[in-house]
Amino acid sequence: MAAHQPFVSPRHVAIIMDGNGRWAEARGLPRSAGHKAGIDALRRSVRAASDQGIEVLSVYAFSTENWQRPKREVMFLFDLLNRFIKQDVAELHAAGVHIKIIGSRVDLDDKIIKQLKYAERLTADNTKLKLIVAFNYGARQELAQAAKALAELVAAGKMNAADITTDHFENALDTAGIPPVDLLIRTGGEQRVSNFMLWQCAYAEFYFTPIFWPDFDSTALAKALAEYAARDRRFGGLKVQSA
Ligand code: FPP
Repeated sequence: MAAHQPFVSPRHVAIIMDGNGRWAEARGLPRSAGHKAGIDALRRSVRAASDQGIEVLSVYAFSTENWQRPKREVMFLFDLLNRFIKQDVAELHAAGVHIKIIGSRVDLDDKIIKQLKYAERLTADNTKLKLIVAFNYGARQELAQAAKALAELVAAGKMNAADITTDHFENALDTAGIPPVDLLIRTGGEQRVSNFMLWQCAYAEFYFTPIFWPDFDSTALAKALAEYAARDRRFGGLKVQSA
């Protein structure tokens, strides 16, 4: 094995930003304060990911299961997304960030949808970093939606069921054209995927940290990237032997 392996950087990093509530509770603050601090951590992470040369950063901001939270918290998170996009879009655009929001828009109000579309259109040609914000997102729902889209093509006689490949499936997902997740980070100490990018994470390396999301910073990201670089990715094959 070579003495010095080059630092292997992931193309696509996905983050489950967990621990906002516990961060706030530990400080005697309302949960909303944790989510607000979570926005600052998101801003920091976008900058850090961009500095690290990461191509795609995906973040889980609101899951389809988060509807089970008190209405007040749900409304707060919706408002936070709206404000984040409104306040940060110009700066993100200037930094070369391409914003993409994935998830169902069915339950979002027209004002937010307009705002999201504007941000996506404005930043569409940026190439420094792609920021995917998963909002009202669930991977099972995304997969069911993809199956439905393919079934409709078959029903319309535009495709044979027998010809469906994993590529067709991939192209029917919200993340069509985006490379698979290389590194999935979850903050807050839990060790599960919680219905996030199940297809895209098929060969992702998982990294769990007890740090609450509002405390996540460039040093914490660098630590996750260093651990990723030390992992041995085989994609179901055998370890590559060097001469
Ligand atoms: C999980 O922490 C976090 C969320 C459900 C929301 C994530 C939102 C942010 C980080 C803010 C950025 C948001 C937008 C809209 C861009 P938790 O509330 O489950 O924390 P806990 O596990 O400690 O209770």
